[in-house]
Amino acid sequence: MLTAYDATIAGLLERAGVDVLLVGDSVATAVLGYDTTLPVTLDVMVHHAAAVVRGTEKALVIADMPFLTYQVTPSEAVRNAGRLLKDAGVAAVKVEGGRSVLDVVRRLVDVGIPVMGHLGVLPQSVNQQSGYRQRGRDASEAELIFTDAIALQDAGAFAIVLEAIPTDLAAKITSALEVPTIGIGAGPDCDGQVLVSSDVLGLHDKIPPFAKKYANLAEVIVNAARAFVADVQATSSASRARTD
Ligand code: KIV
Repeated sequence: MLTAYDATIAGLLERAGVDVLLVGDSVATAVLGYDTTLPVTLDVMVHHAAAVVRGTEKALVIADMPFLTYQVTPSEAVRNAGRLLKDAGVAAVKVEGGRSVLDVVRRLVDVGIPVMGHLGVLPQSVNQQSGYRQRGRDASEAELIFTDAIALQDAGAFAIVLEAIPTDLAAKITSALEVPTIGIGAGPDCDGQVLVSSDVLGLHDKIPPFAKKYANLAEVIVNAARAFVADVQATSSASRARTD
């Protein structure tokens, strides 16, 4: 699984064989220039998710439900998730958290909306978690994450993202669950892996320690734009020389 935010990149990632595309609320930091994911609205997510759906044919497209579009009441969550399915055309939604979102997960699944869970580092709770440091290092926090994973599965989640937790905890959760785990900074023993596409593609330098840059598109783009600028400058000085 990789994140995607627009039709062009989504189509390329699908062509490369990526099975699942997540329209993450990381669109805020990866694309829109915000410091956190908190400012993203449902309209923004619908806009980007619809583009990803238009750019793909067979990938499973999942959209994040943004901050405060599912935490207030389960009914609001159904209406908001419904927009991501009806207006954008995604097949499933992702919500962050464990025990605090079980009612929401149950309600969404009840009305036929597949839900992916998300445990460990919860970017929408950055203010409560005091940043993005690894979670589940001490025994009591590890136990909370483990029981949350079981509870999310029991509530009907079809898969769970495990973000930035110790490898042994991710392995323990993965072997206890029947639904797949998708890890990000959670070691190699999860059933699948996800990364943020702008990290993988090297569109910027600020990548988390667990991410891997598979290309340096920032350099490719700067070099291409520089070559264009040089061409334009050479053409206009040649035409100036002709008219002098
Ligand atoms: O928004 C996002 O990109 C995510 C991934 C980190 C899993 O939730």
